[in-house]
Formats: sequence, structure tokens, C-alpha cells
Amino acid sequence: MTATSSEKTWRVAMIGAGTIVQVGHIPRFKEIKNVEVVAVVDVNEARARLVADEAGIVNVYSDYKKMLAEVKPNVVVVATPNTFHKPMAIDALNAGAHVLCEKPLALTYADAKEMMDVAAANNRVLTVGTHYRWTPPVQAAKAHVDKGFFGEIYAARTVWHRRSGIPGFGSWFTNNDLAGGGSLLDIGIHALDRALYLMGYPQPVTVSGATYAKFGPRGMGLGGWGVDRQPGTSKARFDVDDLTWGFVRFDNGMALQFQVSWAAHIPTQFQTELFGTEGGASIGDRDQIELYTNLNGQDVVIKPDISSAPVNSYGRLIENFVRHLDGDPTAVVISPRESLIAVQIIEGLLRSAELGEEVKIG
Ligand SMILES: NC(=O)c1ccc[n+]([C@@H]2O[C@H](COP(=O)([O-])OP(=O)(O)OC[C@H]3O[C@@H](n4cnc5c(N)ncnc54)[C@H](O)[C@@H]3O)[C@@H](O)[C@H]2O)c1
Repeated sequence: MTATSSEKTWRVAMIGAGTIVQVGHIPRFKEIKNVEVVAVVDVNEARARLVADEAGIVNVYSDYKKMLAEVKPNVVVVATPNTFHKPMAIDALNAGAHVLCEKPLALTYADAKEMMDVAAANNRVLTVGTHYRWTPPVQAAKAHVDKGFFGEIYAARTVWHRRSGIPGFGSWFTNNDLAGGGSLLDIGIHALDRALYLMGYPQPVTVSGATYAKFGPRGMGLGGWGVDRQPGTSKARFDVDDLTWGFVRFDNGMALQFQVSWAAHIPTQFQTELFGTEGGASIGDRDQIELYTNLNGQDVVIKPDISSAPVNSYGRLIENFVRHLDGDPTAVVISPRESLIAVQIIEGLLRSAELGEEVKIG
């Protein structure tokens, strides 16, 4: 799905005026020539006004439906608490806009599918903000996947452990009704996308998950992102996971081990590992990547030099999204299929954790 030729200039509206819109979306969209950021919406109208004034954006609303009807943007960013993603994205798609929805796309596979069906029915693009695949080490690994360096990739392990990094303690982030999950949906989804992207997004068939909340309920492990509403207390609402582990089997025989935490007595870890018949990889953040293989009977470690690669993965996600709307066939966005598989896995992990047993999906 690409834009029609009459839509040469992208009139982008933000639903949500929170941290990610301020530090991520608005600065990045404003850098792009044929884009104008035309409106900011937030239930907290004062916040929307502040953000809009700072960025020179004319239209400020507290009601996104009114904004859609009056401003008629042709691109909408949905960056509100997770539970609102589905209704807001569907309304924006039905109003004729392409949508960049923040992660997680939805809380259930059924909801994500409904959103994708609405996008298809309106011939609009609906994509999601899992940008870590555009970090230099993941892109370097992907180039080696595409050239067959790993042989058959049969397994992967993806980990994001924070020692201390519960965001927005006492805000929507730690409220299950608004967030639908904690570390899993906040940063786990990024770790998942990194691995699944390199594995070629195989179809999952079974998922086993375990979730814990051992730090948040004690008011421990705070930090990293968002505003803590009740710092220094254990009285804030915290009914989401702060650690989730999982194991996923795929229909092509691949396996994925998955670990995420917002807080744990463990050093911070951010790593995706690939296991292939001819080579392996350990992929970290920024410029951290090592490839492993055997050359002439000798085990070797290869360190690709990616020091000059562009590091702003969020910028790349947005620039890529706009080029995709422009009709550039080389600008591939996160596809409906990929988005649905990611949601299928997170839903499976949470269901498995609740039941205490492996669940079938797909
Ligand atoms: N892709 C990434 O790396 C990344 C990073 C951070 C956050 N996010 C995602 O972005 C979304 C927002 O996160 P954030 O950190 O900006 O949160 P935030 O708490 O800073 O901002 C959320 C904003 O949404 C507003 N809001 C709540 N309900 C609303 C409604 N009904 N209508 C309009 N506005 C409403 C709130 O008033 C608040 O200003 C979340 O889904 C989060 O998962 C993505």
C-alpha cells in the first residue's frame, strides 16, 4: 500500500503529547522535507499546548476525534497508553490517515488483526514503532543473514535486562488496565523484534512464559523513562510484570529464548544471539557486534566495523515510514504480518504465564 500521488505533502498529527512524541516523533518528522506536523492532541491540553508551542505547531486539541474531523491529517501517530492504541488507530485509519502506532500495536492478536483489517480495507499503511531493528549492529547482522553467513539459523536468544529501570512508577506504565503489561510490552517487544527480524519472522506455534513482579510492588528498581508519580513509596499501583522469560517454538523448527526485566539484581544486559549451522552472532547496542565461525578448522571471531553507521534508529524508522508513503519501494516498513506475530507472541507469553503451562498459538 502506498500513497496516492495527490498526497505529496504529509500532514502529520500526534495523538499523545508525551515523552516519546517530544523526544522522538516531533523532532524527527520535522526534519523531513515534505512533512508538516499539523496538530498535537492530548487529554492533558496544557501539555499538548506546551509541546505544540515549543515546536511551532498550530493546532492543539484534547479530543482526537474532533482533531481528525477538523484537521483531516493524512498521517497520524498514536502515542498514548497502550490500551488506547486500538480505538485511536482504527478511528484514524477510518478517517483516511496512514498510521504509525506506538508499540505494542495492540494487547491481543484479535485486536491487532482487526486493526490490520481496517488498514487494508481503507488501503492505508499501519505500522508500529519497534525501531531497534534499525540500530547499526542489527542491520549489520541482517546483511550477513541475507548473504547466508550463518547457514541455517536454528535458534536465537534475545535479552534485555535492566538492573534498575521501571518507567513511570505509579503512572499508566505500571497500571495493567492502561498498559496491559509491564517490562514485556515496554522493552520486551523491542528485544523480540530484534530477534524475529533476524530469524525472518517465522510463524510461532507454541509459547511458554513466566512473569514476575518482585521489584515494582516494593517501590524498588525505578528509573529510566517517564515520570514517577509516587517515588519512594510502595503504595503506587503496580500490577504488571517487571520480569518475563519465555520460550517460543516456530513452525520451521526454530526456537527462541527470551528474557526481559525492568529491574533485577543482575547487570544490565542487551543482547541478541543467533545460532546458525555455519556461524553465530552476538549483537548488542550501538557498535557492539561479534560474528563467530570456523575458518579452515580454526574458530574465529569477526568484529564488523560499524562505527560510521547512522545510530539514530528512531530517526531511521520515521524517515523510512515517510519514504514508504512516498512510494519508495526500497523503504520497507514493519509489515502487518510481522506486527501480528509479535502481538501473538506477547499475548501467548502472558496467557502461558497465567495458566502455568505452554500454550499453542498460530
Ligand atoms: N518506540 C519506542 O521506543 C517507545 C518509547 C517510549 C514509549 N513508547 C510508546 O509510546 C506510547 C506513549 O509513551 P510515552 O512514554 O510517551 O508516555 P507518556 O506517559 O509520556 O505520554 C502519554 C500521553 O498520552 C496522553 N493521553 C492519555 N490518554 C489519552 C487520550 N485518551 N487522548 C489523548 N491523549 C491521551 C497522556 O496525557 C500523556 O501525555 C506508549 O504506547 C509507549 O509504549 C514507545
